[in-house]
Amino acid sequence: MSFEARPLRTARLLLRPLTADDLDDVFVYQSDAEVLRYMLWPVRDRAGAAEHLDRRTRMTRLAKDADPLSLGVETLDAPGRVIGEVNVRLTSVSDRQAEVGWVLNPAYQGRGYATEAAAALVDLCVDTVGSHRVHATLDPRNLASIGVCERLGMRKEAHFVQDAFFKGEWGDTCVYATLATEWRARRDAQSTESARA
Ligand SMILES: CC(C)(COP(=O)(O)OP(=O)(O)OC[C@H]1O[C@@H](n2cnc3c(N)ncnc32)[C@H](O)[C@@H]1OP(=O)(O)O)[C@@H](O)C(=O)NCCC(=O)NCCS
Repeated sequence: MSFEARPLRTARLLLRPLTADDLDDVFVYQSDAEVLRYMLWPVRDRAGAAEHLDRRTRMTRLAKDADPLSLGVETLDAPGRVIGEVNVRLTSVSDRQAEVGWVLNPAYQGRGYATEAAAALVDLCVDTVGSHRVHATLDPRNLASIGVCERLGMRKEAHFVQDAFFKGEWGDTCVYATLATEWRARRDAQSTESARA
């Protein structure tokens, strides 16, 4: 199955393709060393951020191996303002595997937005793209990102020791994942619970 980028709504958010007009907003987190500490992205100047954004505006189709999709995150109460982005990559079409990732402007962290956006992304992978398993790869020191994985109900599957030379030092990598069957069961249980409340 494939997916052409289109806006996705959640309770509080709109996820939509990035455009060149989002530069001011994405530059905030693309230039922040603390935000980028555990990400592969380097700290970018404005020209570098514009170039990077230009590439991301074209990441709009999930169809074949390694295809990336990038969606900007807006809150419904502040339309037009990108507070972060979420990403999907088809790691294997034949094995129906997808990888997800997220980043938020620090001013919008601590409100559950990353988890809400990431949940919509996992829904997309499972329901539309047909993913059998969805995973996230992260630095084990990145406790905020681990928190997102745990709130999503992802299982820690692996901790690789010094498998990457990252930002000047050897770093570890952890993998968190959920199966589509587990995701659906959890989602059904949550909606039954909220219907009862
Ligand atoms: C990873 C990252 C997106 C997580 O952001 P976050 O704000 O911690 O995550 P969420 O948006 O899901 O918010 C969760 C927090 O909001 C709180 N919260 C407040 N209101 C909430 C609500 N309505 N629903 C859920 N959580 C809520 C939660 O309790 C939690 O707080 P805690 O961390 O103190 O327990 C952010 O730290 C980031 O951008 N980091 C830099 C980029 C990065 O490392 N990306 C990952 C690379 S693998």
